[in-house]
Amino acid sequence: MSERPAKAASDSRVTLSLIMMPEHANMYGNVHGGVIMKLVDEAAGTAAVRHAQRPVVTVAIDSMTFLSPVHVGELISCSAKVTYVGRTSIEVRVTVEAEDIMAGKKTHTNSACAVFVALDDDRRPCDVPGLLITSDEERRDWELGRARQEARVTASKRPGA
Ligand SMILES: CC(C)(COP(=O)(O)OP(=O)(O)OC[C@H]1O[C@@H](n2cnc3c(N)ncnc32)[C@H](O)[C@@H]1OP(=O)(O)O)[C@@H](O)C(=O)NCCC(=O)NCCS
Repeated sequence: MSERPAKAASDSRVTLSLIMMPEHANMYGNVHGGVIMKLVDEAAGTAAVRHAQRPVVTVAIDSMTFLSPVHVGELISCSAKVTYVGRTSIEVRVTVEAEDIMAGKKTHTNSACAVFVALDDDRRPCDVPGLLITSDEERRDWELGRARQEARVTASKRPGA
């Protein structure tokens, strides 16, 4: 663990928002899943950099299921929060909402977890600050995050991974 002081998830929490334009969508006005995945990666990466205060690279993004379509003209917001940290890795959970801003209606479209690794000046993995747990919910998030991270690392070692 880093010698730097542990930080709370609230120190790095971030929300990125973007209005969906025609270039984000197919010919029927439905936003491409890849556009949302990129925003998720950017929001999660920003939270990870805020936590590590180092450059980071994405090492894993868990599978995403889109629960409802997003349309041109809607405001997409990706809210990212650090849920678990290892020695050099940081797991961030992102919650995605689409807002029909004329109707004032928000829809949860999907959630996703991504893992980043902090890099030192030689681009090698380096220690990250610990994560302060400030609530029962954050303790549960931590335990779930640790289990997910163990599963990711185990899966990546399977032949053919
Ligand atoms: C991320 C990277 C630096 C890790 O290098 P590495 O030699 O595997 O380093 P380590 O074995 O020390 O692992 C570093 C951390 O990554 C974690 N990790 C490794 N493989 C992982 C996986 N498949 N899923 C989640 N975490 C993983 C390790 O558990 C470790 O975390 P910890 O220190 O908190 O325990 C290297 O794989 C890399 O550069 N990948 C490309 C990243 C990139 O370019 N991403 C952009 C999108 S392509």
